[in-house]
Amino acid sequence: MSNRVYIFDTTLRDGEQSPGVSLNANEKLEIARQLARLGVDIVEAGFPITSQGDFEAVKTIAREVRGITVAGLARTNFADIDRAWEALKHADQPRIHTFIATSDIHLKHKLRMTRDQVLEAAVAGVKRAKGYTADVEFSAEDASRSDLDFLCRVLEAAIAAGATTVNIPDTVGYATPDEFAEFIRSIMNRVKGIEKAVVSVHCHDDLGLAVANSLAAVLAGARQVEGAINGIGERAGNASLEEVIMALYTRRDRYGLETGINTEEIYRTSKLVSKLTGMEIQPNKAIVGKNAFAHESGIHQDGVLKERTTYEIMNPSMVGIAHSSLVLGKHSGRHAFRSRLVELGFSLSEEELNKAFARFKDLADRKKEITDHDIEAIVENEIRKVPATYEFTYLHISSGTTVVPTATVGLTRGEDLLEEAACGNGPVDAICKAVDKITGYHCRLVSWGINAITGGKDALGEVTLRIAENNKDKLYMGRGISTDILEASARAYVNAVNKMLHEKNAGAAV
Ligand code: KIV
Ligand code: ZN
Repeated sequence: MSNRVYIFDTTLRDGEQSPGVSLNANEKLEIARQLARLGVDIVEAGFPITSQGDFEAVKTIAREVRGITVAGLARTNFADIDRAWEALKHADQPRIHTFIATSDIHLKHKLRMTRDQVLEAAVAGVKRAKGYTADVEFSAEDASRSDLDFLCRVLEAAIAAGATTVNIPDTVGYATPDEFAEFIRSIMNRVKGIEKAVVSVHCHDDLGLAVANSLAAVLAGARQVEGAINGIGERAGNASLEEVIMALYTRRDRYGLETGINTEEIYRTSKLVSKLTGMEIQPNKAIVGKNAFAHESGIHQDGVLKERTTYEIMNPSMVGIAHSSLVLGKHSGRHAFRSRLVELGFSLSEEELNKAFARFKDLADRKKEITDHDIEAIVENEIRKVPATYEFTYLHISSGTTVVPTATVGLTRGEDLLEEAACGNGPVDAICKAVDKITGYHCRLVSWGINAITGGKDALGEVTLRIAENNKDKLYMGRGISTDILEASARAYVNAVNKMLHEKNAGAAV
């Protein structure tokens, strides 16, 4: 059996099913490109039948991201499969991923189908997909709660119909590692023709066991692991791919398996996914959390200074975490700034560099020491994901315990400076109202959160918020950074409004 484990990334499909997450096509493309740099084998770009937006995103990724397998999800019905193919057909290596549930619970309550009908639908779906592409994955949804005999019959029939990968999802995160390994072993032993297909697993994290279950499955013979960056996904999420990858690498003595992953891209990928989805990474998250390589106790610090391996099982540089050194300040020039960007792995156009440098200078006037984290935050905030209709220009706030909070906001649109003032229940409310007066759109602030990106009293604060137009449900996420949290809030709000306007304009152009 091969010792290569294929990494199947479903950040853009299952990951995007996380509550509150909605990525536009540009954001998905940016993540897909980064996943290709990370070296995942398969990117599941979406579920094309579910919406026009998902269809377009899969189509764009299929056309633009070459040298990697791009998968699209489809139920076993022909309309789903045809639509998936329509989106995927220009991919370098297209894969149709078709699924149907096999557990009695799903058959009885959701599908209202008999076992024979499910088996028939699975075979028909795989054959239909096979008519389009040689690379067909079949998933038996809720496999871990399915009757093993029936599941084996379905998998056998799917392989005979042409499935080249068979996926065994623990859809509701119910399995335990020992049990799941045994389950996979039984499938490997019982399903005729199993050697013709790659056995895959797709574990959810409802009991916090998704990574452990995935690793147990590879020990039992699975050779594809599905998961998402930062472990995002339905409910408690999917197996966290960076954890699976680093466990396989760090404990290769135990697993003896390889992936094609460029581990140094992990941290950047994780940050990008967090930024674009608006899902913060918990500080103690393994591999990519802000504390994952931080040593607090004096004994630990002393140990690491004497010999890193006393308390570190992985070198942070392996996952692409640059040591945060104090590199630049207000006297640093454009050349030094550009060199540091290159070292941090950014490649900016001249225009982007100019914007980022202007923000860096602005920040350096307010903050003595500019760290790598500051620079990353500036760049990621300066590179526009959508054309900005409004540019944040200035903010004045009058607030306190005895005055009505009032905000005056200046935004630039083209050549014009537009200014408005408004009162609110608090300063953030006043800012939002002033921006609304300028744009003419009335939006609800659905959520607001702040995160200190860097340390110290002059730390950069990053505000992530979500807005929706009054009487509408669609959410738009915005982010803004500044040493001043009210300015960060204003920047984030304007960013979200720009996304909303961009989508409206794109809709109007269709
Ligand atoms: O969790 C699940 O079963 C899935 C399938 C569609 C693979 O996401
Ligand atoms: Zn899933």
